[in-house]
Amino acid sequence: MPLSTTGALVADAVARRSAVAAFNVITLEHVEAVISAAEAVGEPVVLQVSENAVKFRAGRLHAIATAAVSAARAAAVPVALHLDHVKSEALLHQAADCGFGSVMFDAAHLPYGENVAVTREAARWAHAHGLWLEAELGEVGGKDGTGPLDAHAPGARTDPGEARRFVEETGVDALAVAIGSSHAMTSRDARLDHARLAALHEALAVPLVLHGSSGVADDELQRAVAGGISKVNIGTALSIAMTGAIRAHLDADPRVVDPRRYLAAGRAAVADTAAQLLTTVVTAAAG
Ligand code: G3H
Ligand code: ZN
Repeated sequence: MPLSTTGALVADAVARRSAVAAFNVITLEHVEAVISAAEAVGEPVVLQVSENAVKFRAGRLHAIATAAVSAARAAAVPVALHLDHVKSEALLHQAADCGFGSVMFDAAHLPYGENVAVTREAARWAHAHGLWLEAELGEVGGKDGTGPLDAHAPGARTDPGEARRFVEETGVDALAVAIGSSHAMTSRDARLDHARLAALHEALAVPLVLHGSSGVADDELQRAVAGGISKVNIGTALSIAMTGAIRAHLDADPRVVDPRRYLAAGRAAVADTAAQLLTTVVTAAAG
């Protein structure tokens, strides 16, 4: 199947008042597991490669991107490639040539004016190269000297009026918003601010993205999708699954030396978790 794009999958999800699940992939086993999960559920999916995952590969994007593109083209369901949490303009500029149809440009740690300036330029570049651009607005710093919070710092909340101005000033295609989730949670007990989500959904015409979704329980995730979240980003849940399965395998068989044994267990666990979360996301009833 031809490579899909995040823009197309999100637009389709918005039309169905649903959401697309976007999973962070670190290894080829993640890529294979997420695609097999999507095929098993019969739903499209986004594979995300983060800037941190690229750093893990000594800054080289090409190898994992080429493998993901190849696996995506062989999939039985539409699969899109997304470059996630990009702070480096040099990395942004590699996206189109490496098969990515979209990028999340992450400047939420910068003061508002700088966030607008660099994100506007990133969106201009992305659009000139056929890419869909997601950005993030957390909580703008206060006059008391408190710095800006990224959208997934605990306690951060995106202001709807500021978010509308940010989208108008930058021209981005989607916005990651702060409504109570935090990155890298290993327990699923984040409580989302659904009133804030409703206000953001009302104020903004662009699709809204939830990051840090691993820390959000199924019912909260489904409520968020029903309330206007159109893209659900999931990473840590896959790490928990993979590491837990590999640890269990090695504990059960301390003499194992063939990496295929424990990588197979890790890949299967990632596929199970991805299938469960994908089902949760796509079965949410829109409000
Ligand atoms: O952009 C990626 C996501 O926000 C992943 O967050 O690892 O907490 O699920 P998570
Ligand atoms: Zn994120």
